[in-house]
Amino acid sequence: MATEKFDVCVIGAGPGGYVAAIRAAQLGKKTCVIEREFLGGVCLNVGCIPSKAMITAAHFHHRMMHDGPTMGFQVPEVVKLDYKKLQEWKQSVCNKMSGGVAQLLKGNSVTVMMGEATFTSPKSLTVKGKEGTTTIEAANYVIATGSRPIEIPGFAIDEKDVLSSTGALAQDKKIERLVVIGGGYIGLEIGSYMAKLGSNVTVLEAAPALLNGLADPDCVQVVARRLKKNGVEVMLSAKAKGWKKTKDGVEVTVDVEGKEQTIKADKILLTVGRRPNSDQAGLKAIGLTIDSKGFVTVNGQRKTNLPGIYAIGDVACQPMLAHKASHEGVLVAEVIAGHNRAYDAKTVPAVIFVDPEIASAGLMESEARAKGHTDLKIGKFPFAANGRAVSMMETEGFVKIIADAKTHVVLGVHIVGPEASNLISEAALAIEMGACVEDLALTIHPHPTLGETMMEAAEATLGHAIHIIQKPLQGSARPGPRANA
Ligand code: FAD
Ligand code: NAI
Repeated sequence: MATEKFDVCVIGAGPGGYVAAIRAAQLGKKTCVIEREFLGGVCLNVGCIPSKAMITAAHFHHRMMHDGPTMGFQVPEVVKLDYKKLQEWKQSVCNKMSGGVAQLLKGNSVTVMMGEATFTSPKSLTVKGKEGTTTIEAANYVIATGSRPIEIPGFAIDEKDVLSSTGALAQDKKIERLVVIGGGYIGLEIGSYMAKLGSNVTVLEAAPALLNGLADPDCVQVVARRLKKNGVEVMLSAKAKGWKKTKDGVEVTVDVEGKEQTIKADKILLTVGRRPNSDQAGLKAIGLTIDSKGFVTVNGQRKTNLPGIYAIGDVACQPMLAHKASHEGVLVAEVIAGHNRAYDAKTVPAVIFVDPEIASAGLMESEARAKGHTDLKIGKFPFAANGRAVSMMETEGFVKIIADAKTHVVLGVHIVGPEASNLISEAALAIEMGACVEDLALTIHPHPTLGETMMEAAEATLGHAIHIIQKPLQGSARPGPRANA
């Protein structure tokens, strides 16, 4: 069996692994990355990118049918959709992104090995590929093996009747009736787009609220209203107990606050969370410490308990988000190269690509209070008062800023509305820089843009937004932007 030696061996070529490999190579390390399925990982092939392609298509279709006529378009009653063509387009987007990763790895002289990696000792592993098995010996290993869907008793994923996100995103026919188990990120993203394309969608959520604890409750309310408007039925405190096949589909039994009900559907989408792939690749056998939730235990430099072995991305810790994985990829490569680096991000911004989008950075109100910020200033600015949003016919939602009342430091920003995903980075920068609301309020934002809502929400926090009527704070005189700083 051939043995190859490297400075850095990365296992898994998702947004954590491929980024770590590129950065390690940029820093002069002889690097390889091992991947068993697809370059770009879950994110580029069956996660972030294909889901956003489908969401874009559904939004386009929905707006054409619902907003088009108001703008003067003569739209037929039903805009027909060729699902096979939609799948081809979606796949071409994924292929382009995955192909781009291949080029980047090649251009940075990273050795790519396609196959299954398994540690045989803390210092070596084997790669089982189509052309045989290779042994790797590396000075440093980066475990970036990601996560997979959680299954619940009675709902084994077969991608026929019970789908995971991967199966749902690959459907080349409309699912007429879909039951989604889990009203979190994936269930609502996929459930929303399918409903906009005409599917009959029912969401079963075990918790008493959608996106329970995952997003600002005021933002969730806006999305819940839109789901209803788009025909999605939401059942809260609803636990799926089992299902059976029927003549024309499936029948799901659900317990809603102690009462049993059945729901008929064509398919079930199971989205109750994802679990780290820490039970694979021989990680346990070589003695890596794994916590009770299945994450490989890491420190601030993403070092594991074994010298020379690092872990990043979904396999290492929450949040299971692509940009967090990539940030850790760069970090770990720089630690390996001897740089003085540690994970010190104040916030990992998060986006839920529902309709309208929810995006957040920093703390929610409850989290801020729990951290001792008992006195808060909270400002909200609605998209309905923003010229660009009105001209886009996308006026639902708001920007909400949470600041410490004494220091005016921005603690959290929560957005629900058009392009929330693209607006949130300004908030993340503000939080990283320790900015005050005055910094956002006094930054000139171009007009007419959705970005002006951030400036106006900051003004609203201070009590004097221009484009909404606010009651004076104390007496009739309102403080200037710097007056309270
Ligand atoms: P992964 O992307 O999972 O990559 C791990 C790679 O390791 C895989 O390619 C796997 O094949 C490989 N691997 C595993 N074990 C081995 C082995 N033994 N040998 C060789 N290779 C191995 N996040 C966002 O930030 N934004 C989004 O919009 C978003 N949308 C999502 C939509 C869906 C439907 C899903 C499922 C997830 C989404 N996510 C999103 C989450 C995001 O995909 C993950 O957080 C991200 O992919 C994690 O990156 P990673 O590098 O840790 O792992
Ligand atoms: P999730 O954790 O977002 O949501 C799971 C939901 O299922 C929760 O609301 C939970 O209460 C509910 N649930 C659990 N057990 C249940 C049961 N038996 N019956 C009914 N409901 C039940 O998990 P999801 O949606 O699978 O996504 C996994 C992760 O992938 C996310 O947490 C996120 O980190 C990542 N992701 C990120 C996206 C983004 O950034 N836009 C998009 C998609 C996924």
